[in-house]
Amino acid sequence: MKVYLETFGCQMNVSDSERAATSLRAAGHDLIDSDVGADAVIFNTCSIRERAAQKLYTRVGEIVHARNGWVRPKLPIIGVTGCVAQLEGDSIFKQTGVVNIVAGTRATDRLPELLDRISAGESRVIDLDERKPDETWDISQTERHSAYVAFVPIVEGCNKFCSYCIVPYSRGRERSRPASEIRAEVVRLRENGYKEVHLIGQNVNSYRPKNDPILDAVVGATPFSRLLRVVAETGIERVKFTTSFPRDFHPDIVAAMDEFENLCNWIHLPAQSGSSRVLRCMRRGYDRENYLRRIDRINSAKRRHAITSDIIVGYPGETESDFEETMSLVEKCRYSGLYIFKYSERAGTPSAKVADDVTKEQKTARYLAVERVQRSIQTEIYRSFIGKTLEVLAEGRSTKNPDHLTGHSTCHKVVNFPAPAHQIGEIVKVTVQQANPNSLWGTLAV
Ligand code: SAH
Ligand code: SF4
Ligand code: F3S
Repeated sequence: MKVYLETFGCQMNVSDSERAATSLRAAGHDLIDSDVGADAVIFNTCSIRERAAQKLYTRVGEIVHARNGWVRPKLPIIGVTGCVAQLEGDSIFKQTGVVNIVAGTRATDRLPELLDRISAGESRVIDLDERKPDETWDISQTERHSAYVAFVPIVEGCNKFCSYCIVPYSRGRERSRPASEIRAEVVRLRENGYKEVHLIGQNVNSYRPKNDPILDAVVGATPFSRLLRVVAETGIERVKFTTSFPRDFHPDIVAAMDEFENLCNWIHLPAQSGSSRVLRCMRRGYDRENYLRRIDRINSAKRRHAITSDIIVGYPGETESDFEETMSLVEKCRYSGLYIFKYSERAGTPSAKVADDVTKEQKTARYLAVERVQRSIQTEIYRSFIGKTLEVLAEGRSTKNPDHLTGHSTCHKVVNFPAPAHQIGEIVKVTVQQANPNSLWGTLAV
């Protein structure tokens, strides 16, 4: 079958899609780049905010209305996987009328079997089960989104239950992957020419595999900081990791980063709010002062680390003075990058039980206000790079100018520069000449 797989949401979904593609190809299917002419279209979905979840229904509608070479009334097999599938289950069949497969967040490896059942004549199949104990995390090189940067999941699921968040319900309980397996994967990636790995998880600091001799042999105050040392020792050029959960962000992580140059100088540490009162309502487990202490520790590291964050504006009950505290936190932390979100009520979460009482207009005003301060801070930070030389992994051609290459610095900034295509895949030195709001532009250093 020709299968088209479309992915929404976070890096974990991208990684799951890579895993699903690996198992689909192993079962003899062809993966194609567009829904045109596909025998099966699979949407790997995200439910983090209302708008993200809605996207599934928009795309299914488009498939139904398009005539992409399908002979009417025949539609391709339509499958839904990921977080919306896990949460909404068989109601997706009823709501759309055309979906054939609903497969949850732990069913990625079983997609080929589910497709076979539809081919054999069943019209609707659903699988919201857990992973089987012997399932592999195998991702073939052909299915990776890049030939140079690889996502390596280290922990799945989330046990935090922040009051606004759907992820613990869609992804289930935390499961950590054995360190031996992670190390073997990174070694293999390195042998295959990968330059960078991103260790991914909803909160990587919660990494806690069952008794793992490899980790026991390494120094470090937490299993995660030990894992960082294990991965750094493979000699892979660059290691990045995301997301760090502030409460569990142990200072030893910074110590490990001080010890190993290949642990890149970028930390994503989402604050969500600057108000201790709101943080308590969000059940984040830290307050403003704890958070700022983590930031101080990072700022006292040997190298200068770029820090990025996420902020939610308009959490239920957020007052003007709570919001002022978020503004002052953003000013204080001087983030290199910030994702700002308007609170979106998710059914089934504790926050959904309280009134979503910050008006749409207030949310928009607060969003724009944070965006404005962040823009001016970010402009200053980006401008401060002019004249400096950064190590950039050339990841591909720039979409804006085919003579330019694009990549990321160790501090995770997008850097564009003129260079020949044969340098794609190399780590090059670029001297920054120009700063844009979200990227830097420079020339190869001589
Ligand atoms: N595990 C990560 C976040 C994963 S979700 C962490 O704890 O930091 C990515 C971001 O989406 C969150 O950091 C949060 O800022 C935002 N988010 C999650 N649920 C949301 C909701 N209901 N409304 C608005 N933003 C939300
Ligand atoms: Fe959601 Fe909190 Fe888990 Fe992050 S840590 S995924 S915000 S519940
Ligand atoms: Fe979205 Fe699920 Fe990731 S809700 S952000 S795809 S864990």
